[in-house]
Amino acid sequence: MTQGSDSGRRSDARLDPSAAKPPATTGIGHDILLALARSKPELVAAAIESSPVNITIADLSSPDMPLAYVNSAFTRTTGYSIDEVIGRNCRFLQGPDTDPAAVDLLRDAIKTETEVEVEFVNYKKDGTAFINALKMAPVHDPHGRLISFVGIQNDVTEERERARLDVERQRMEALGQMAGGVAHQLNNLLQPIVTLTALHRPDMPADNMGPDFDTVLESARQAAGVVEDVLAFSRRKEPTFETLSVAETVLKNVEFIRTLLPKSIFVHVSIKPEINNVYTNIDATLFSQALANLLINSSQAMDEAGQIFVEVAFDDGDWIHVSVVDEGPGIPQEIRSRVLEPFFSTRLEEGGTGLGLSVVYGIVNRHGGKISITGAGNERRGRGCCITLSLPAVQEQKP
Ligand SMILES: Cc1cc2nc3c(=O)[nH]c(=O)nc-3n(C[C@H](O)[C@H](O)[C@H](O)COP(=O)(O)O)c2cc1C
Ligand SMILES: Nc1ncnc2c1ncn2[C@@H]1O[C@H](COP(=O)(O)OP(=O)(O)OP(=O)(O)O)[C@@H](O)[C@H]1O
Ligand SMILES: [Mg+2]
Repeated sequence: MTQGSDSGRRSDARLDPSAAKPPATTGIGHDILLALARSKPELVAAAIESSPVNITIADLSSPDMPLAYVNSAFTRTTGYSIDEVIGRNCRFLQGPDTDPAAVDLLRDAIKTETEVEVEFVNYKKDGTAFINALKMAPVHDPHGRLISFVGIQNDVTEERERARLDVERQRMEALGQMAGGVAHQLNNLLQPIVTLTALHRPDMPADNMGPDFDTVLESARQAAGVVEDVLAFSRRKEPTFETLSVAETVLKNVEFIRTLLPKSIFVHVSIKPEINNVYTNIDATLFSQALANLLINSSQAMDEAGQIFVEVAFDDGDWIHVSVVDEGPGIPQEIRSRVLEPFFSTRLEEGGTGLGLSVVYGIVNRHGGKISITGAGNERRGRGCCITLSLPAVQEQKP
């Protein structure tokens, strides 16, 4: 790597626009702009400083290429002050989830003095991870000598998360349509089996065909239960909404669901005071089913001994959040996007069908709500899985 003898000074990088090498395709417009930039270096420096994207310039006079300049967007978005970053190599933004392959690309680009674009995980000063879309390019003087590197950083975390959720929603929608179609057909076929077997059961002799009929009836009823759950996931059942107090509904339901759980499971309910007068449109039966599925999952994840925390909170007026938190192992990141799918289960051997969370997903969807899963080692340190159902608050006072 060549290094300009006077290249590393911060003032050079900050104020001297001639440091920028004209691109190969120099047009008239660009020449004019460059001339303007040369005649008004303060304007260029001020523009870089005010840029809404992060801009960093490295100091080539030092072997480790520390930062010589960062603009205010960089300090604002990363949480580091100028003093904390100038003189340090930008790798301080990297951490456990930073993809080493992306870092390799950066190292190679520096070696070969080429432009590079990477998207990888970086960390803010407070430890928050963000997705950094970084473009890095060599800076040459008018003689083509390398005098610095410039980096443009963009926090694209929200965009990427939105896109990911969009893909997930479409996938679940397609899955719902397919599963719903099959379940609907099966439902039609199962109804006569259940009805006719039950109808003729009393006529069967007790010693031979009777028990066989019982087995048929029991299996058909179980199959109908599975079909019901798939229909609940695929939104084929229309809910009956009532405007209810969320606090009261949760309390009432937890009271009942508690009785279904082993005695060694303790359920704590915490309701933020601001939720008392908040109402939402709920199908009470479906909501109860969703809550029960979550509590049963938590109980199973803790091998039927431990504490479950049901927390109800209200944000700035739009959403009511009902969270179920447990002390189990949590849901590993790798399977979080799959646990809402029907028939996805890690408990198949213990008799799980993998329908519990897909039913919750379908129910929340029909309430116009959202479901989010966080886990152990997350914001609730020391606790296990946290599943939050967010429902739209319809009004603050019941009419
Ligand atoms: C101008 C410039 C900007 C950079 N910006 C970042 C950045 O935002 N995030 C990051 O993780 N690394 C960034 N890097 C890359 C690291 O500073 C370093 O070059 C990279 O980690 C490879 O080197 P290493 O293997 O010695 O760590 C930047 C490098 C330069 C020259
Ligand atoms: N509270 C939890 N803690 C840890 N893992 C969980 C928790 N809740 C769900 N999971 C994971 O999600 C998977 C899917 O859950 P889901 O309720 O859909 O199905 P299941 O519990 O396996 O079977 P079913 O509910 O049909 O009996 C589970 O198998 C488990 O791996
Ligand atoms: Mg379950």
